[in-house]
Amino acid sequence: MRPLRLALCASEVAPFAKTGGLADVLLGLGRWLGREAPQGPGHDVRIFLPLYRKIAASGLATQPLAGAQDLEVRFPQRTIRFSIRTAPLPQSEVLVHFVDCKELFDRDGIYTEDGDEPLRFALLSRAVLETCQRLRWAPDVVHCNDWHTGLLPLYLRTLYAWDRMFAATKSVLTIHNIGYQGLFDQSTLDVVGLGDQRAHVHHGDLRDGKLSFLKTGVLHAHRVTTVSKTYAREIQTAEHGMGMDELLRGRSGDLVGIVNGVDYGEWNPAADPRIPHHYSAADLGGKAKMKAAMLQRFQLPHDPRAPVFGVVSRLTAQKGFELFADSIPVFLQREDMRLCVLGSGEDKHEKYFQWLRDTWPRKVGLYRGFQEDLAHWIEAGSDVFLMPSRFEPCGLNQMYSLRYGTPPIVRRTGGLADTVEPWDPASRTGTGFLFDEYSSQALAGTIDWALRNWRDQKGWQQLMKNGMQKDFSWDRQGPEYVALYRSLTGA
Ligand code: ADP
Ligand code: GLC
Repeated sequence: MRPLRLALCASEVAPFAKTGGLADVLLGLGRWLGREAPQGPGHDVRIFLPLYRKIAASGLATQPLAGAQDLEVRFPQRTIRFSIRTAPLPQSEVLVHFVDCKELFDRDGIYTEDGDEPLRFALLSRAVLETCQRLRWAPDVVHCNDWHTGLLPLYLRTLYAWDRMFAATKSVLTIHNIGYQGLFDQSTLDVVGLGDQRAHVHHGDLRDGKLSFLKTGVLHAHRVTTVSKTYAREIQTAEHGMGMDELLRGRSGDLVGIVNGVDYGEWNPAADPRIPHHYSAADLGGKAKMKAAMLQRFQLPHDPRAPVFGVVSRLTAQKGFELFADSIPVFLQREDMRLCVLGSGEDKHEKYFQWLRDTWPRKVGLYRGFQEDLAHWIEAGSDVFLMPSRFEPCGLNQMYSLRYGTPPIVRRTGGLADTVEPWDPASRTGTGFLFDEYSSQALAGTIDWALRNWRDQKGWQQLMKNGMQKDFSWDRQGPEYVALYRSLTGA
């Protein structure tokens, strides 16, 4: 079978631009696709990402891509010029194509509240197609991710339909999080050059004076995927569909759940360059050292018998930390335990964790902000990982914690349900602790259950090893994407 030509595009790609798991998926999937074919070179993959200010200022060595300099995209109200600069994904031959457009991307942060936010990401979609045209490189599949690239499938079917080069090109849209839909005023249709395509966008939204990037993508992508089997079912229900369930039920034949893979090149306690002590299921010595080192970093007293609970998270409503209010203080009061938190996001959550820290300064450690290496330290140095999500499309952190021998406590939802198996001390099977009901009581009951199991250290070691031996690598998950691409292209 011939290698595929694949254009991937997203608003985040690690290590260049990251706020969450989307970035990790693009890095891991992109790398894996680039070397997939066991008998030869991998697929011909190009990844498109805006050249945000932070990337440009990072000193990253990029090259101008020949043939893709000084391109122009005419939007009805503005003409935007951009060029493409390239650099390989680290440890890969796959090229990232950075869309260099100072006018739109030379700003603080990845996402903005600026009035031209829809134009910024409309440009990303169009830059993908314009660049392909200039290079005369016809992708078999353009793989879009989340609302930021949601207009691309419609552009492909309309503004670019004249170009026979794209005649066989298919689009795939992956929903990483239905909580973010890219909902703008309907006047945005004109801004992004789709004013003539009113018939092709969601009528209900138009009636309400709105345009949704994500719905547009769901309507026009050849296939829609999301990042776990359970979430694929959930988003077709009114409870989890966030207003998109009906539309998704209408496309259920074209909607597949593919669980995210883990890039064990980045997340492996035996070789992780971001942590000072290494270990594996066969030799856990380094994990005890990581626990001591991490507690020291948080300036908390160390006692090997006191379990450390870790949190690494965006602090948003999705992640379920409101359940802490009526559960965690009881444990902090009663138990000799530690809680180490790395997170940033909504002020009320940050303040709550700050309150916990101020109230139990010898038990709670907190870092407010985003810090890649500390995320690895917490995965490695904790005994239990906490992820009580209200909803979770897939979740990578619980899979990382499994590999780092840090059994997770999770709510049975979305990808958490698909990747964590309940620990059963009698049969010594399972990898973590799950609860169903979204309540503080259910969480508290599960923390209690975990603590009882912690007291049986022999059983606990088995629990850790069960998780460490699970394989969520892209070698396992990636072939589902390739099968999907091939089913579309017939290649
Ligand atoms: P989501 O994408 O919803 O945030 P995931 O579990 O899929 O959840 O992925 C989260 C990713 O973001 C992980 O790589 C995690 O380590 C990282 N992350 C989240 N918050 C922080 C933070 N404050 N500092 C460093 N890394 C973080
Ligand atoms: C989203 C989801 C998370 C998922 C990640 C990568 O941000 O919240 O569950 O793992 O995307 O797909």
